[in-house]
Amino acid sequence: MRISSLGLCVLLPVVTAYSNQVPLGEYLPETTQSPDYYQFKWPIRRVAIIGAGVGGLIAYRELTETGYDVHLYERDDSPGGNWHYSEETPVDTPIPSVDVTIGDYVPSLPPRGAALPYVEEYDDPVENESRKRAHRAPKPIWDSLTSNAPAPVQQIRELPWPAGTPWALPNRKLQRYLRAFASWHGLNNNDNNPNVSYNTRVELIEKRYDADGKEAGWSLTLKELISTNNNKLRATWVNEDFDAVVIATGRYNAPNVPKIPGLKELAERFPEYLVHSRQYRVPEPYQDQTVLIVGAGTSGGEIARDIIKHAKKVYQSIRPETFPIPERPQGIFLSRIPHNVSIVGEIKQFITKGSQLSEGLVELSNGTVLTGIDRIIFATGYRYTYPFLPQYHNSSLGINDHAAPGEAQPIVTDGTHLRSLYLDAFYIPDPTLTFINANFGMQSFTYAEFLSLAIAKIWSGKADFPSTATLWKKYAEVYKERRGYGRHFQFLGAVRTREGLRFFQGWLNDAAVKYGGKQIDGLPKDTAEVSAVWIRARFGANGNYGINAVDVGRLSAAGFNTTGFEDVSIDGTESWAQDLVYNDYW
Ligand SMILES: Cc1cc2nc3c(=O)[nH]c(=O)nc-3n(C[C@H](O)[C@H](O)[C@H](O)COP(=O)(O)OP(=O)(O)OC[C@H]3O[C@@H](n4cnc5c(N)ncnc54)[C@H](O)[C@@H]3O)c2cc1C
Ligand SMILES: NC(=O)c1ccc[n+]([C@@H]2O[C@H](COP(=O)([O-])OP(=O)(O)OC[C@H]3O[C@@H](n4cnc5c(N)ncnc54)[C@H](OP(=O)(O)O)[C@@H]3O)[C@@H](O)[C@H]2O)c1
Repeated sequence: MRISSLGLCVLLPVVTAYSNQVPLGEYLPETTQSPDYYQFKWPIRRVAIIGAGVGGLIAYRELTETGYDVHLYERDDSPGGNWHYSEETPVDTPIPSVDVTIGDYVPSLPPRGAALPYVEEYDDPVENESRKRAHRAPKPIWDSLTSNAPAPVQQIRELPWPAGTPWALPNRKLQRYLRAFASWHGLNNNDNNPNVSYNTRVELIEKRYDADGKEAGWSLTLKELISTNNNKLRATWVNEDFDAVVIATGRYNAPNVPKIPGLKELAERFPEYLVHSRQYRVPEPYQDQTVLIVGAGTSGGEIARDIIKHAKKVYQSIRPETFPIPERPQGIFLSRIPHNVSIVGEIKQFITKGSQLSEGLVELSNGTVLTGIDRIIFATGYRYTYPFLPQYHNSSLGINDHAAPGEAQPIVTDGTHLRSLYLDAFYIPDPTLTFINANFGMQSFTYAEFLSLAIAKIWSGKADFPSTATLWKKYAEVYKERRGYGRHFQFLGAVRTREGLRFFQGWLNDAAVKYGGKQIDGLPKDTAEVSAVWIRARFGANGNYGINAVDVGRLSAAGFNTTGFEDVSIDGTESWAQDLVYNDYW
């Protein structure tokens, strides 16, 4: 059953849709929980972490130090997550995107009823190559990519960058750094830690029940895929039981490719010339080509900078922002896009013609038609999805519809945001299921430390956790404060990040006084100052436009309303400018 309070408003920008909503509070699921603190239904000892990116590695450290029996599963062959660059690219993504429940992969399960461990071997070298890529998922970064946060901000506090480290961090340096952190904790792929499994993808996470039919934790179906000595691939499926789970699988696994009229037909005709930004590696293949980049978030902007030196012409399609929050000068991001990139408005439709992509037409919303396009890159972002948790996906709900009380409360609906999580981390109906780094507009390298410590303390009873009724009440307040669902729902930004970390610090340090255990320091006081310098260098005076950070001429040519942005300059201390350090919300 669905409670639809939206009707046509679903089609309107989120801010409009939100104002028509019945408050979430009216749909709060019923609970019999005592009004006091939450009581876990079973003791938590054995814990699984999914993902060996910075979030999973930090969670492993924190939970192990607290005394849990921790097991880490990583689909890739080494640690580092997003920062493991490889020339190898991910398998093709559907263009346009398909239902988000399918996510970035369809879970691969052993035959029903098969005894575990269940083993299969494959020997076709061509199929094996794509099997391996689909399993490990090469990461969505490119050769020239450097950090968009400065080194003093993007670091794990236990492992500070040496003094004098250049602030822009090349991706390989970040990968080496994360490998070093993993090694320090005995988690690297050459450490032979029996509690860490690389090449192992989590296929399914299900509730586990005891002999009396009571919930008793989680059961994981895991698939390891490795090369054998005789050039075959061997897949082994096993089941493992855990008391609690940390999902640290990152936010950038499933590409978002918009459903633009005519796109499906174009992609079917010329699949090799349309890619998502996660497949982009180097600019040379774009030599002398006319390229259309759709989207001007960080990926779109940085890829435009990379290929403009090689391409014959680059068009960049942008669209008016739909976010109700945060408020900021529209189009500020254009200040990093070179002048010789042609900014154009939103695409209305693709028209396939002739035997080559370049013979087709791209019609924009303002009626302009682009011709002669040789290649298209969709830098249109990602969707949240957890293919291994199908029971918490419900793509039939409208953007601000809620599941009825008594029904399963979904975590993923349309992939733009996550639901039913307290602090964007604890699944409210069962907080033995948790998520690390599920927000954006924050700094993953530091945020994960606070979250991991909170999880460790709560599960061990060393910090009070509110009752289920209180969690839903707080959730309803957050829903209201964030002005309803949409991509902005997961956004933190500089101010909320600072407030959030202060909240964690106060909560966890109070708990340490009450129950003993570790305390945690706040972030260094100069973070805001470091950010201000970095932002001025990246977007302000040293950017393309001198002191005036918004190129209104370019924006209005692309159909944007630029009123009020004529004289926007960046000092770097403005709260919206501080958000740019994380640079990942437009
Ligand atoms: C192009 C790009 C550039 C970025 N640049 C910056 C930047 O400059 N600065 C910055 O701070 N952040 C940047 N980010 C954000 C980046 O995601 C974070 O820096 C950081 O990597 C987040 O860490 P994580 O551990 O949460 O996730 P990830 O690093 O994504 O790690 C998740 C891990 O989970 C594994 N995994 C996923 N699914 C499964 C499964 N089913 N089973 C087992 N393992 C699984 C993945 O293989 C991966 O290793 C960028 C992101 C992108 C896409
Ligand atoms: N270190 C680096 O240099 C670097 C480089 C790349 C990425 N990153 C990080 O990687 C993460 C993901 O960034 P991302 O840029 O891939 O994704 P993103 O931030 O989600 O940006 C996607 C962009 O595509 C736009 N878009 C979607 N559909 C569109 C359409 N039909 N027409 C025009 N535009 C459309 C979106 O606009 P709406 O806002 O309207 O939806 C949004 O601006 C971020 O954390 C970012 O910081 C870092």
